[in-house]
Amino acid sequence: MSEPAETAYFQGAFVPRAEARIPIDTHAFNYGTGCFEGIRAYWNPDQERLYATRLRDHMVRLARSARILGLGLDPALDPDRLSAIALELLVRNGHREDTYIRPIVYKSGATIKVALEGIATDFCCFTQPMGAYLDIHKGLQLTVSAWRRIDDNAIPARAKPTGAYVNAAIASDQARRLGFDEAIMLTGDGHVAEASSANLFLVQDGVLVTPAVSDDLLVGITRDSVLQLAGREGIPVVERRVDRSELLAADECFLCGTGVQVAPVTGIDGRVVGDGQMGPITARVQSRYLAVVRGEVADFPQWRTLVGPAGAPAVAASLTTAGPP
Ligand SMILES: Cc1ncc(COP(=O)(O)O)c(C=O)c1O
Repeated sequence: MSEPAETAYFQGAFVPRAEARIPIDTHAFNYGTGCFEGIRAYWNPDQERLYATRLRDHMVRLARSARILGLGLDPALDPDRLSAIALELLVRNGHREDTYIRPIVYKSGATIKVALEGIATDFCCFTQPMGAYLDIHKGLQLTVSAWRRIDDNAIPARAKPTGAYVNAAIASDQARRLGFDEAIMLTGDGHVAEASSANLFLVQDGVLVTPAVSDDLLVGITRDSVLQLAGREGIPVVERRVDRSELLAADECFLCGTGVQVAPVTGIDGRVVGDGQMGPITARVQSRYLAVVRGEVADFPQWRTLVGPAGAPAVAASLTTAGPP
């Protein structure tokens, strides 16, 4: 990530980011009582346009996370309003490069009481330039983490609670310390859930296999995009419980998520996946995905929200802020 953008949304207003600061007794700072989203906006240099990827879907998930956690988000801050704030922030910050959007719902009250009800809740958002943070061409080396993914019965898996990311951070740090790029998280009962902050797909005999949503994973929006793309490409897909040993038997493996995008995995715990190169199905999914989110092709226009006023008609002419159902 490079320099932070200048303006943030904080306490109901657009303010200089340097002024968007929380006091030390803020509940969310003390207890991780919040939830967040990570959203990308892709710059298309030929069209000179910035496209936010599945913006409204992310805001729907943010509002749902807040509901699951009982954070008490102001109903006026519905997904449309949240999307509008993020869009205005992108415009104000004038990004002309790939950008990351970070909206957060958090317990802003100043109290040491361990609770969620009766404590003030607020919303903030900032944006930041961000290119690929993992090499999506060379192939990632993963390890199955000794740390288990937090169970849905401990912290809701399909929400994105800020505090829960201690689990991801500790596993990811351990993986890197051991010389790997990322960690694969198993469920408490030893099945494959996801990577520390991305979903995981395997290819077995031409079929895409990914852990079921009931296996303690974040139901990723990129995961859904991959499922839709695979459907369009005629690639069969199965969502089901995945055993650890299937990781070693797979023909291909890749991670997907807003941050990692679609990234091939070529080694797991020192064992070669497939032939050690990005596989053909991974390559197809990756190139389709990147072409769609950058607006290089007209497919899936509902995934792209044009930032700022529409200029001359471009490839994806029917861009709207509306998300898919
Ligand atoms: C734990 C976890 N799983 C999966 C994902 C991928 O989700 P998405 O595709 O919605 O970014 C993320 C990234 O946000 C994540 O943090």
